[in-house]
Amino acid sequence: MKEDELLHGGGQTQEAEKPLATTTRKSRKPFLFIGTAIIFVVLALALGLGLGLGLKHKKASVGGGHSSNGTSPNPTNGTGESPDISENIPSWRRNPLEYNLDMSWDINAAPTTRVFNLTVSEIQAAPDGILRPLLVINGQFPGPLIRVNQGDRVLINVTNQLSNGTSMHWHGLYQNGTNWMDGTVGVTQCAIPPSDSFLYNFTVEQFGTYWYHSHFATQYTDGLVGPFIVHSPEESKIQEMYDYDQVVLLQDYYHNLSTTLLPGYLASGNENAEPLPDNGLIQGTNFFNCSSYPPDSGYICDQNSTRAIFNVAQGKRYRFRLINTGAFGEFQVSIDNHTIQVIEADATLVQPVTVSRLPIHIAQRYSILFHANQTATNYWFRAHMNDLCFSAENPVLDTDVRALVTYTNSTSDPNPTQSVDWSYALDASCEDLSTSDLVPYDPLPAPQVDITYPIEVSFQIGNYALDRAYINSTTWVPPTVPTLNQAVAGLHANDANFSTSGVSTAFSASQLVVDVPTYKVVDVLINSLDEGAHPFHLHGHQFWIMASGSRGDFEWNSYPTLNLTNPMRRDTLTVDAFGWALIRFKADNPGLWALHCHISWHMEAGLLMQFQTRDDIMEGWTLPSDVLALCDAK
Ligand code: C2O
Repeated sequence: MKEDELLHGGGQTQEAEKPLATTTRKSRKPFLFIGTAIIFVVLALALGLGLGLGLKHKKASVGGGHSSNGTSPNPTNGTGESPDISENIPSWRRNPLEYNLDMSWDINAAPTTRVFNLTVSEIQAAPDGILRPLLVINGQFPGPLIRVNQGDRVLINVTNQLSNGTSMHWHGLYQNGTNWMDGTVGVTQCAIPPSDSFLYNFTVEQFGTYWYHSHFATQYTDGLVGPFIVHSPEESKIQEMYDYDQVVLLQDYYHNLSTTLLPGYLASGNENAEPLPDNGLIQGTNFFNCSSYPPDSGYICDQNSTRAIFNVAQGKRYRFRLINTGAFGEFQVSIDNHTIQVIEADATLVQPVTVSRLPIHIAQRYSILFHANQTATNYWFRAHMNDLCFSAENPVLDTDVRALVTYTNSTSDPNPTQSVDWSYALDASCEDLSTSDLVPYDPLPAPQVDITYPIEVSFQIGNYALDRAYINSTTWVPPTVPTLNQAVAGLHANDANFSTSGVSTAFSASQLVVDVPTYKVVDVLINSLDEGAHPFHLHGHQFWIMASGSRGDFEWNSYPTLNLTNPMRRDTLTVDAFGWALIRFKADNPGLWALHCHISWHMEAGLLMQFQTRDDIMEGWTLPSDVLALCDAK
């Protein structure tokens, strides 16, 4: 019995946001129900309601109640007594109530400026019970919610208290006209040096579910991730489909810093064996069976782990915005006894499609709806980590990552006769939901293509005698001077190498940059010669998925007859093992844009190329002095 662990600690709700202008954001009052919660927990302990049954099953309520702020549209709906025990969670653990999206947020508010402060530091913490060095934002893990409206200007001040450089990337945001705010070290900026800070300043033109993460080497994998939610008046048409809106972060998780794991991965003769996750987290938390490590492993097991809990009220409908912030692992998500409807994929609203299990690969987002219309009891929310896609098995990894969905505001394990997993087999491969299932809600025809670039993805032992990842014959190494800075300087100097259409000769051999000097519609045929699935992300754009296949090759004779009517569009797509995908985008956004595999290990191994687009606009650019200054501060 560890009641002091449940009842002590110093969790604080940390507001990252400080609105400059008047906004409709109401301040949260997360401590309203603490008294009730403590009484509840004490009672639960006294009654032995499944608490303290050993490390693997000990729980604290950290999941989503809805009424901790007084702005809930329906505060007396039965979720009002959510066990918010924020005073009892360790100070480094972000209160997951912060990821409940207050439904009274004004999606019609006039555009405003919103200010956020993100201070990055390294601490010792134990999100799943195993103590490790963890990178945190404002002292907590996972990162704070960034929530804005379409059209808002955001000022995000990132302060670096690490001993290494850092950066922050706003995954999925176009940054049209502000390429230098994209946060991609080696492409659009130099890293923010230790003890320095940088102000990201941009306007959000889109809406939907996004996220942010460090884009410096594999650093995000060590904790620098958070949700970025953008609302819009356009949401009114789907808001009537749900009563509550909740962000859910899913991620694989390692017990060591990525910088510790990386050398082994890149060592020669390693045959591309990626570091294997030790656990999976939901809302940054999970249990871990510490006894699966030998006593002399050196790991310190702190018994303060928890499981995420989602409180639901009978009859209510829920939107869960799933974000896979992991490094390597795909999840298959399901809720026992409840079908789920997919309504959004990578910020594209889609025609609702009902599924039992939903695959979500690294960096992808899906919004799912479910109706709390089953017997009022407890059910498992399952995020099965698909280790069949890993190169080997990690004996300590429990792939069955779970959260609790409770109708009864309780923390007990579901009754296995009442909470039943779907009997359909789990996928053996890491493939996206079929694109034919994903139909954008707002139709947008794909334009006719102007230029087509086929690329080949492979892993080779390069002349570094390291196992490197290649796109065509280039393995990416971040340059000291970002390619954006090089291109702007080259364009100013009228160096024709920087404005010649096609594979650019202006950069060093470790940069594969395709230059598209004026507006064109570009197709990229990604061909994978690799046995693993690769979630590819294109910065600065959404692309249409024109065709894809898990084997064989694209049929060029089908090219003239591809469906243009309303193909799925998104920003992160899984290219199947030995498979291919044909993506199309409008190269209308000036700047240098990365196209890369989002598996941390693969990007760091070189699986990144870039597009340089709209030289006609870029040649008029002068990079802001604070962006340039990041490169002097050595
Ligand atoms: Cu999530 Cu290159 O980014």
